[in-house]
Amino acid sequence: MVNNKATLKVAGKQIDLNILKGTLGPDVIDVSSLVKNDYFTYDPGFLSTAACESKITFIDGDKGILLYRGYPIDQLAMKSNFVEVCYLLLNGELPNQIQYDEFCKAINRHTMVHEQMRNFFNGFRRDAHPMAVMVGVVGALSAFYHDTLDIKNPEHRVVSAFRLIAKMPTIAAMCHKYSVGQPFMPPQNHMSYAENFLHMMFSTPCEETKPNPILVRALDQILTLHADHEQNASTSTVRLAGSTGANPFACISAGIAALWGPAHGGANEAALNMLHEIGDSSRIPKYIARAKDPNDPFRLMGFGHRVYKNYDPRAKVMRKTCYEVLEAVGAHDNPLFKIAMELEKIALEDSYFVERKLYPNVDFYSGITLSAIGIPINMFTVIFALARTIGWIAHWNEMISSPYRLSRPRQLYTGSVERDYVSINQRSE
Ligand code: CMC
Repeated sequence: MVNNKATLKVAGKQIDLNILKGTLGPDVIDVSSLVKNDYFTYDPGFLSTAACESKITFIDGDKGILLYRGYPIDQLAMKSNFVEVCYLLLNGELPNQIQYDEFCKAINRHTMVHEQMRNFFNGFRRDAHPMAVMVGVVGALSAFYHDTLDIKNPEHRVVSAFRLIAKMPTIAAMCHKYSVGQPFMPPQNHMSYAENFLHMMFSTPCEETKPNPILVRALDQILTLHADHEQNASTSTVRLAGSTGANPFACISAGIAALWGPAHGGANEAALNMLHEIGDSSRIPKYIARAKDPNDPFRLMGFGHRVYKNYDPRAKVMRKTCYEVLEAVGAHDNPLFKIAMELEKIALEDSYFVERKLYPNVDFYSGITLSAIGIPINMFTVIFALARTIGWIAHWNEMISSPYRLSRPRQLYTGSVERDYVSINQRSE
């Protein structure tokens, strides 16, 4: 909605720009007409740029607010479940009982992967990072399910969404089983989404494990808390890839690749690796000093956030769940978790962290929780990808279902001006 106009005066010219008003959040100056006046905007890291219009998720980083389709994240994490949240993100409203049951049935219909995909796994080294395998296997879904790749067909888009939501846990667990050399476990459709994932991770053909309901609930919460986060790096990657008309499996694979980095989804893995590296409480001061040293690139992983300059509302929920899980598995005396709790205390009290608002983020607590559940560290980012898949699909679908343009940013060029080619024998040494 156009609210008002801003006026930009540049080189004696006056350019009128529309100011757009959302339902929540700061007003947005529409700079799309600047190009007609021979100007680009410059905003490295997109700190001041709204790249699209969206109705899915709202974040107020200063107030520590996160809403999925208007519902506060803590209410969803405490009262809903991940599958219901998937329905909400995809469709915009919470389902009634009939809609929920049909949605669950539709997801369950797609939990298995094509038998041929087993062979695909065999092409990877056993010691490959599971995220490397995820990028490849999820991208390869387009080679197995090309019957629903017409992105202009809403029914194809729905089936692709169901396939992705349903198959991600199966593929993620297969990545783990492949790396430890155990047989793949088929999905069990009578189990809940989170329970089924833990079953595929930890059961073997010789032994069925019955996961502790506290751990199942904790994993379901982790999935809910990571389900979407508006236009973060991986979601923006999915939108950018999607704007070219690429198929959904290729776009989600691009999102997985973007998520892998330690500044984004890789933070939970990096946080746990850091705890192992610290190794003993006596070494904490050394690491805190390194984190504060402006000449040392070391950062405390799992602390700080680009958007939340107040406490991350997801971390608030996750902290409580983390403590419950540590209690349930009897791990509160584990030296690694003791280091984590000491770091948390320091970050909440030390002026360096307090002044910069570097609170423990959701990945600090989810990493500790996943570790206590028994999930290997290299699977943490895979679980983040599994959770975020619904957010990626919801954003991709939102973009494709409304008018959109190819995303093609411009640049501030600071390289050489035009010059003539010089033959190699005429170049100076
Ligand atoms: N440890 C120590 N100092 C830090 C940290 C940290 N984790 N994060 C920021 N700082 C300092 C930084 O050095 C700077 O100090 P100064 O003002 O003296 O130069 C100040 O805090 C502001 O930092 P910034 O780099 O401008 O902040 P940013 O918004 O660009 O960075 C971040 C956000 C998440 C990349 C960063 O906090 C970080 O690297 N954290 C560790 C990685 C991490 O946990 N990432 C997961 C984020 S949550 C998952 C998700 O949503 O994807």
